[in-house]
Amino acid sequence: MISITITRPDDWHLHLRDGESLRAVLPHTAKQFARAIIMPNLRPPVTTVDMALAYRARILDALPAALQSAFEPLMTLYLTDNTAPAEIVRAKESGVLHGVKLYPAGATTNSDAGVTDIAKCYATLTAMERNDLPLLVHGEVTDPDVDVFDREKVFIDRILAPLARRFPGLRIVFEHVTTRDAVQFVTEASRNIAATITAHHLLLNRNAIFQGGIRPHHYCLPVLKREMHRQALLAAATSGNPKFFLGTDSAPHGQASKENACGCAGIFTAHAAIELYATAFEQAGALDKLEAFASFHGADFYRLPRNTSSITLQKENWIIPEQFDFAGEPLIPLYANESLNWKLI
Ligand code: DOR
Ligand code: ZN
Repeated sequence: MISITITRPDDWHLHLRDGESLRAVLPHTAKQFARAIIMPNLRPPVTTVDMALAYRARILDALPAALQSAFEPLMTLYLTDNTAPAEIVRAKESGVLHGVKLYPAGATTNSDAGVTDIAKCYATLTAMERNDLPLLVHGEVTDPDVDVFDREKVFIDRILAPLARRFPGLRIVFEHVTTRDAVQFVTEASRNIAATITAHHLLLNRNAIFQGGIRPHHYCLPVLKREMHRQALLAAATSGNPKFFLGTDSAPHGQASKENACGCAGIFTAHAAIELYATAFEQAGALDKLEAFASFHGADFYRLPRNTSSITLQKENWIIPEQFDFAGEPLIPLYANESLNWKLI
C-alpha cells in the first residue's frame, strides 16, 4: 500500500459559519488541519476584537470532545471603512488575532459592510503596518463595468499594486489567487506579499461551471478561470516558492441556497481538503512539494511555529459522500459521489 506522511497541515483561509452550521462543518477541518485562519464574514461581520474573541470561544466550544485540543482557530477582523487604528492595537495585543480581512464592499458573500474606498482605511493600514498585523485581501474589484473574469487582474492594477507601494512594510496575503496575473504579481512582489491557493482552483477550470448544464456547486468567487490560469496556479503551488500556501476557502452553503435561481458563491471542500490537494499535486507530478505548501510556507509567513505532529494519506480509492448534514439541510461537497484515490487515515 502506497502512503505519504507529512507534517500536519494548516488551512490559511476557511469559512466556518456559526451556530449549528459551525458544529456541522468544523469536524471536517479539525480532523486534518492543526490550525485555520477563520474568515470573519458572518452576519453581522466580526468587526471588533470582542466579537472575534466571542466567535473563537464558540468555535472551541463546537469542537467534538475527541478533537478538543487538536485544533486552534486563528481569528481575523473584518475591515470596514470605520475600523479604528486603536482596534488594530487591541487586536495585536490579544495574541489570538492574526490578520484583518479586506472585502471590497459587494465583492462576495456578506461583504456589504466591507470597504467602499481603500483610502478611508489608510490610518488603519498604517496601524497594521506598525503593529505587524497582516492584511488578507479578497482581490476583486466590484465595478459592474468590469467583466467578472477580469476582476482580479483589474484589482491588482487599481488597488493592490498601489497599496503595496504605499505600505511597503505591511504583510499582505492575496487570498485565493485565480489567475496567471496574480501569480506573477506575487512572485515579483516583495517578500511581504504572499498568496493562498484553493484546491478547487487547482483542480478545475471554468468549463466545470458549464459541464453538460449549469453546475452551481462549481460556482465560487473569485470564479473559476481558463485552463491557462489553472496551469499557472498549479505551477506556483508546486514550485516550492514559500510565497504560495494552502488556503481552502471551503465555503459551505446549504443545498437550497446553491441550487437556486440566484445561487450563492462558495465551494465546500473541507470534507476532503488535503486529499484534493494531494490529487492536484500528484497530477502535476509534484507530490514531494505538497508538505511545504500545506504545512510550512503558511506558518512561516504568519510567523507561527510549524506543527510537529503528522498525518498520513493512503493511496486508496473511495467515493465521496453524496451529501453531509448542515444543520438539518443537505450540504453538497465538491466531487459528491465521485471517487478520489488519496485517503486520509
Ligand atoms: O465563493 C466564495 N464564498 N467566495 C468568497 O469570497 C466568500 C465565500 C463565502 O463566504 O461563501
Ligand atoms: Zn473566502
